[in-house]
Amino acid sequence: MFEGTDRVWMDGEFVDFEDANVHVLTHALHYGTGVFEGVRCYDTEQGPAIFRWEEHLDRLYASAKPYDLDIEFTKEELTDATVELIRSEGFESCYIRPIVFYGFDSLGVSPRTCPTETVIAAWPWGAYLGEEALEEGVDVMVSSWRKHASSQIPTNIKTTGLYVNSMLAGEEARSNGYTEAIVLNKEGNVAEGPGENIFLVRDDEIYTPGMAESILGGITRQTAITLAEELGYTVHDEATISRGELYTADELFFTGTAAEVTPIRSVDDNEIGEGTKGPVTDDIQSAFFDVIDAGEREEWFKYV
Ligand SMILES: Cc1ncc(COP(=O)(O)O)c(C=O)c1O
Repeated sequence: MFEGTDRVWMDGEFVDFEDANVHVLTHALHYGTGVFEGVRCYDTEQGPAIFRWEEHLDRLYASAKPYDLDIEFTKEELTDATVELIRSEGFESCYIRPIVFYGFDSLGVSPRTCPTETVIAAWPWGAYLGEEALEEGVDVMVSSWRKHASSQIPTNIKTTGLYVNSMLAGEEARSNGYTEAIVLNKEGNVAEGPGENIFLVRDDEIYTPGMAESILGGITRQTAITLAEELGYTVHDEATISRGELYTADELFFTGTAAEVTPIRSVDDNEIGEGTKGPVTDDIQSAFFDVIDAGEREEWFKYV
């Protein structure tokens, strides 16, 4: 995965990939006290361009807030570091992973004496669920693991520790022969995938769970909503979706920085629609990749 990645930006300096290390007693390693982003830089007609960088940066700072993680760099400094990293690595397209976490000092649960570490790495990464998945769709199962309730941990932001739930759900699905999981919230309604938001199509209208359903505020989710509305679709973005509605949906699809716009062709072995990419999903996926390929929508791109 990291072949061809030479350097990582760590706390203000570019360090060689092999030297980008932390102490084994780092607070975040023990308690999951970090926040992060996953961002894509695309090879557009305007050259390499980072998709929705501003929104990802805003979410990174928002994620840091409840944990009192004091990011010691401005948004401009993180932007300059990222652009320089991508340029110097010579990537035309890549995945970008900024992470901010409590570092090494004490292993009391309180991180107050621990330094805040800020790291940015980048590496080439293709289609997360596979190229075929984007065309044919994926087979998913409803996980037996429920999402954390937002009364237990903020679910709307990207905390490293939250991803043990994603890992359990995703691995359960893969062990059972599925590509990905759908995770229900504590109430038993549909929340999202382990690393994706979910959309449902019924009678040509589009539904996606609202923020109070224990979902991450996905940036691709927001992009898909905007594109769908521009295409003339009605989007219900505060929906509550029951498990049963998944099985009877006309279409389902995932969105995410990694998964982009991926159709879901079956849930728990129930075929969704015709068991392939449906027409509404196709419309939104095409609009998404048109935007990405052109790289023209200036407010959505940071040009490298
Ligand atoms: C749990 C979860 N939900 C949804 C998403 C999609 O968010 P975004 O579109 O901002 O990548 C992600 C991806 O990071 C995620 O990890």
